[in-house]
Amino acid sequence: MSRPPLLTRIPDAIAAVPDYATYARERLDPAIWAYLDGAAGDELSARWNREAWERLRLHGRVLADVAGGDTALTLFGSRLEHPVLLAPVAYQRLAHPDGELAAARAAAALGAGFVLSTLASVELEAVAALPDAPPLWFQLYCQPERAASVELVQRAEAAGYSALVVTVDAPLAGIRNRERRAGFRLPPGVSAANLRHGQTPFAPGSAQASLVFDGIMRTAPTWRELDWLLDQTRLPVILKGIVSPEDAALAIERGVAGLIVSNHGGRVLDTLPATAEALPVIAERVAGRVPILVDGGIRRGTDVLKALALGASAVLIGRPYLHGLAAAGALGVAHVLKMLREEFEVAMALTGCARLADIGPGVLWRP
Ligand code: FNR
Ligand code: LAC
Repeated sequence: MSRPPLLTRIPDAIAAVPDYATYARERLDPAIWAYLDGAAGDELSARWNREAWERLRLHGRVLADVAGGDTALTLFGSRLEHPVLLAPVAYQRLAHPDGELAAARAAAALGAGFVLSTLASVELEAVAALPDAPPLWFQLYCQPERAASVELVQRAEAAGYSALVVTVDAPLAGIRNRERRAGFRLPPGVSAANLRHGQTPFAPGSAQASLVFDGIMRTAPTWRELDWLLDQTRLPVILKGIVSPEDAALAIERGVAGLIVSNHGGRVLDTLPATAEALPVIAERVAGRVPILVDGGIRRGTDVLKALALGASAVLIGRPYLHGLAAAGALGVAHVLKMLREEFEVAMALTGCARLADIGPGVLWRP
């Protein structure tokens, strides 16, 4: 069965971010769709992420003067037009032949930040060399060999990436039932283009007593590894994958510049809480010491407003832009960002907020 071609213009039927899922799915091999869209186990955390944003109600305000408002911010030295970034997502050439290059071009066009994954399918230097590169951060998966981690960090620094996002919630692959049932394998021609030695963070060990504790977790990073890493770079280090207030406190004591509250889109450990539930608890513990970002289930501009109301400085999106990428390449990703930004501005205006600093707990309805 042949699949429809990429969209070259956006049909009227795509009026909101979730509309892209259908268009992406019919353009992708079913096993690739299972990898890109799927999550761990019963995919409960992935669902809860969305439901938790949906459950929150907004406190509408009328007759407020919001003329001249704007959504711009500066985060870890990057100037962003709005608080929505593209999350690090592996192997984007699964979704589109240009992969990360197309997504980064779209981010640039919409003034959004782009976080390039360690497992990107194009070289990090090629993304940085785009004539119209967006604000770029590099996401690091600590490699089993420290030398390999340092090499990645140094390449990112040299290429002009301005922050390091260290993902700590996926030292091993989750139990990905949907992916397994669909028989997903990386197709020939798509690989982790930045890993010179062919290593991946999920390479399983040989026969051990416990594959988890004696195998993978033996080389998994620990807090000691983070201390070491903080000494290796001059870039701000942002820890991604925090759901525990205790871990947030430990990370700040060690000197991280920021945190990303994330359960990896529900892809690693199923039944972790929704990020909208974890965020306020973590924000309370962090008490403004470092900026907090959040991702997971953000599909609407109202979700962005709610995240900022709960203490985030910005949000990231994963699957929504992959869907745009698979359906319509850079055009689709740009359209996803544009719709989110417009919806976010509407939500700000109708809750009486002219700028990001006006967004606080008061925009949430509390009877
Ligand atoms: C991811 N995510 C991810 N995170 C990361 O730090 N490094 C990575 O390489 C990847 N790879 C990856 C692949 C795919 C296909 C997905 C869907 C996700 C997680 C990602 O950064 C983010 O946390 C979630 O995608 C956010 O949830 P939503 O927006 O997809 O609901
Ligand atoms: C994933 C890994 C690559 O979520 O982070 O698929």
